[in-house]
Order: sequence, then C-alpha cells, then structure tokens
Amino acid sequence: MSDKQTPIPFSVTFVAGAIAGISEILTMYPLDVVKTRVQLQDHTAVGNDRYNGMVDCFKKIIKQEGFSRLYRGISAPILMEAPKRATKFAANDEWGKIYRKAFGSTEQTQALSVLTGATAGATESFVVVPFELVKIRLQDKASAGKYNGMIDVVRKIVANEGVLAMYNGLESTMWRHVTWNAGYFGVIHQVKSLLPKQETKQGKMLNDLVAGSIGGTVGTMLNTPFDVVKSRIQNTTRVPGVTPKYNWTLPSVALVAREEGFGALYKGFIPKVLRLGPGGGILLVVFTAVVDYWKAMKA
Ligand SMILES: *[C@@H]1O[C@H](CO)[C@@H](O)[C@H](O)[C@H]1NC(C)=O
Ligand SMILES: *[C@@H]1O[C@H](CO)[C@@H](O)[C@H](O)[C@H]1NC(C)=O
Repeated sequence: MSDKQTPIPFSVTFVAGAIAGISEILTMYPLDVVKTRVQLQDHTAVGNDRYNGMVDCFKKIIKQEGFSRLYRGISAPILMEAPKRATKFAANDEWGKIYRKAFGSTEQTQALSVLTGATAGATESFVVVPFELVKIRLQDKASAGKYNGMIDVVRKIVANEGVLAMYNGLESTMWRHVTWNAGYFGVIHQVKSLLPKQETKQGKMLNDLVAGSIGGTVGTMLNTPFDVVKSRIQNTTRVPGVTPKYNWTLPSVALVAREEGFGALYKGFIPKVLRLGPGGGILLVVFTAVVDYWKAMKA
C-alpha cells in the first residue's frame, strides 16, 4: 500500500459508499424499526401497544413478535441506497455549481454549503419517498397480517390508494431533509476548525467522525418533529373522500404538540442520535477499507 495521492475515481467512491451504506443499514436497522414504532404511537396507545421508550419497545417487539421483526422492511432502504447516493452526489455537484455561479463565488463558502446541502436534500426527497413509504408500512405493528413484503405493499397501495399515493409524505420528507442538511452543514465546518489538528490518517478519521456526529446531532434536533409527522403521514392508508388526520406538515406538527404535548415532537430522537455515532463509524471504516482494497489491487 502506498500513501501517494492517487486520485480515486468516482466509480470507486460510489461503490465504496454504497457498500458502507449497506453495512450501516444491516447493523443499525433495528434502531430504525424502534424509532418508527415509537413515532407512530400516539397518546391513545394502551397495553401491549404502549411503548415506554426505546428499551421497552425493543423488549416488547422481541417478546411479542419475535426477533426477526426487528428486520422487517429492511429491503426498502437497501434498494434505496444506490439511487439515493447517486442523487446526493449529482445534486450536490449541480446545485453547488448553480449557486456558485448565481452568487459569483469561486469557492464553496459555508453559507453556500448550507444552501447547497438543503437544496440537494430536497432533491433527494423525490427519490427516497416511495422507499420510505414502503418501509414505514412494513415497520408498523399492524402490518403483519396486512402486507406480505415489499412488492405486496406497492401492489396494495397502488390498487387501493392510487399510484400517486406512492408519493405520500413528500412534503414532510422535504422538510425533514432540508432542516437536517441545514443543521449539519451549518455546524460541521465550525466543529472541524475547533478540533485539534491531526497528522495521522486515524486522527483525521476520528476528527471527521466527531464533527459528523455533532453535525448530525444538530441536524436531528432540527428535523425530528418533521420525522414524527412524516412517519404518521406515511403510515396512514388514504381513503378516497376522507381527509387524513395528518395531512400538511406544519399543521400536523401543531396538532401533535397540541394533542400529545411538545415532547411528542421528539419521539424517536434517542434512536436517531444513537445511530449517528456508531453508524458514522461503520460508514467511515467500511468506506476506507474498500478504498484501501482498491488501492492495493491497483498497486
Ligand atoms: C398505521 O396505519 C394503519 C392503517 O391506517 C393502522 O391500522 C395502524 O394502527 C397505524 N399504526 C399506528 C401505530 O397507529
Ligand atoms: C389534505 O390534502 C389534500 C391533498 O393535498 C387536499 O386536497 C385537502 O384539501 C387537504 N385537507 C386539509 C384539511 O388540509
């Protein structure tokens, strides 16, 4: 292995990113199931359907439904990984160019990163919504007798709710992505500049991980209310002629706060934040390992 600066081609970065992303999903997915369950439960949930936090939710799912339920719906985010990644890269690139031109800037300033990230996040929403919808439907407790896997969810949504229903939750997903990116890019540069300079590769990786986790936590603080509402909007089966309880994003945020208290807007915050640290670590380690492997093959 040599340390000279060979430029890494886009295809290698892309594949390494996808492998890293899938490894992260495989390990962290149960936290996502727990997050959705906690977000979907409102103040009316009682008995076995009532989860008193994350640990209780884990215990109840394993006890009542079996361990494998912690992985139900995992194929949706796995299939989403490559198109999502492609959109993220392309959108960041293109929007970055557009904004730099529009503001006559030659470099990517922090304000421009925030703007670019937020717009790229909105663009990404169009790709992820159908996958997210399928995932939420399968993660819901009531889905066991209702849906027979991913294809069945798509078939039933299209048949019963219409093709357009595959895009239910687009608005709330945009809010979720735009606020996350704004928070993330808003602080990550600052955090990096405050951390002690690192000379070694491991040290740099550690700095990236710390900065990424802090940026991600700020993003999560901003976007969790939209995530709660998104889960509820996407779980609702649309019935023609009936206005769903959770419809537009902002009124739904207000409704949840009114009915269940402000704290309810932060349902799922802990599993979301818990995923960032170890999740970011897995991404970084796998990504680096794949790139190193490629370098070794080439040498
Ligand atoms: C999710 O939606 C389905 C169908 O509308 C419903 O039966 C189920 O109770 C909902 N889940 C929760 C936790 O509210
Ligand atoms: C809910 O959304 C639908 C479709 O966007 C819209 O036609 C309807 O008026 C909305 N209802 C309310 C109460 O906002």
